[in-house]
Amino acid sequence: MIRPRSKNSLILFTVAAASVVLATALVFQFEPRLVKFLETRMPGSVPGDSMISAMAVINILKLVLLAVLAYLFVRALNSLIFGLAFRFRSGFEAPTLVRNIFSIVAFTILFFLIFSRIYPGVNLGALFTTSAIFGVILGLALQDTLGNFFAGISLQADRPFQVGDVITVGAQKHSGIIEEITWRAIKIRTFQNHVVLINNSSAAKEPLEVCPRENLNARLVFFNTLYTDSPAKTIHVVREAVREADNVSPKISPIVRIRNLADSGVEYEVKYWIDDYAKFNDTDALVRQRIWYAFRRAGLNFAYPTRTLHVERKSRIAGPDGAGGAIVERLSAVDIFAPLSADETAMLAQSAMSHIFAPGETVIRAGDPGSSMFVVHKGRVCVQISENGRPLTVATLNNGDFFGEMALFTGEPRTANIVALEETEVLEIGHEAMKQVFQTNPDLVESLSHIIAERRQGLAARVDSSSPQIDESAGILSSIRRFFGIIR
Ligand code: CMP
Repeated sequence: MIRPRSKNSLILFTVAAASVVLATALVFQFEPRLVKFLETRMPGSVPGDSMISAMAVINILKLVLLAVLAYLFVRALNSLIFGLAFRFRSGFEAPTLVRNIFSIVAFTILFFLIFSRIYPGVNLGALFTTSAIFGVILGLALQDTLGNFFAGISLQADRPFQVGDVITVGAQKHSGIIEEITWRAIKIRTFQNHVVLINNSSAAKEPLEVCPRENLNARLVFFNTLYTDSPAKTIHVVREAVREADNVSPKISPIVRIRNLADSGVEYEVKYWIDDYAKFNDTDALVRQRIWYAFRRAGLNFAYPTRTLHVERKSRIAGPDGAGGAIVERLSAVDIFAPLSADETAMLAQSAMSHIFAPGETVIRAGDPGSSMFVVHKGRVCVQISENGRPLTVATLNNGDFFGEMALFTGEPRTANIVALEETEVLEIGHEAMKQVFQTNPDLVESLSHIIAERRQGLAARVDSSSPQIDESAGILSSIRRFFGIIR
């Protein structure tokens, strides 16, 4: 079949076609002269006989040239029908087997027509049908090939799968993406990037599991929790975490359900529908990852297959070496908390909640209400706004930077999305804790109002670059004071 993958093959094809057309036209145009020329060149022939043999040579030449022309014509037609028209209509390439059958049938018909034009007296059909021995020999020699061929035809007629579908075949469970369906075999590219060829005749006998490309295929991922964790909370948390993962179809909400009340914990399964099934390995992994992070944030626990008794004694402020110490250290390094005394910082650290997010997870969503602010403890996040429906990053925040203060201090909805760029741990500080801090440090409000004003201007400049740079920190200052009931 022609598949003009490059310009070169198209040029080559055009040159070959033009040469054959020219040669055929010349033979037809100068046929009488050629006959005469051949007669003179055939030594020792009787005039009558040489006439016949010269004609025979010319006829063979005509047959060959016209057959080559027919072949080139069929190739061009094949490319036109299957390469372009079929692809445009169905969006994928036609199976090689169908293309080959089309070419053979079309070429055979053309060859019969050409042959009967050049040799009107010869019955080519009878020549083949009466040759029983020829048929038997051919049949025996091509037993396997023909088996594969007819199995291939029956698979095509059935259309159980297409190029691009994910398929699992037979007892050995060969699984991969169908790359090609040929005369002989189905070519599968496995998920380890190996190529497996499965004979059409074996495929026709074996059980096949097909996950069609145009179908919403589902996946199951399993996990378990401790008996102390509430199923209603677990189901809600996991469903929300999985729903947002890449390649999980938004068309059907994931289903989370209990499979078993097992020895070491409650066993769950999450069923989700996938957009591109060929990427199911990555998506399963991402779903498991999202479950882990969601568990961490929601305080849920995976069950261990063990009966060991765990006694865990935790103290947030465990001293300078523990996690509590690290939180105190982190908060005292945040510039807006610099004026706080050691006790005040320790109190703030005590009330801070730590959350961990996976790369790509949304920490804060624009438009949501919010009554807490966050400090980046470990990792990196970006501040995103939506511009013409596309996310636009306006800032990147690192360890020690804070965000979420605008909604906390003004009571307005969140102004931007905050998305984790890598695995990120954040410390959440709530309204009550900040209120206490403000009561003992009223000056803090002022420095915060400057930062909020600056960030607001940054956002406004992105949305409308012509907006004037006005210092609105005075307005923000009074609105924070009002919101937190600070009288001055
Ligand atoms: P908030 O509106 O509560 O939620 C989104 C947060 O993004 C916002 O608070 C700020 O903390 C942060 N933010 C918005 N704009 C910027 C900016 N230009 N630079 C840094 N952070 C910003």
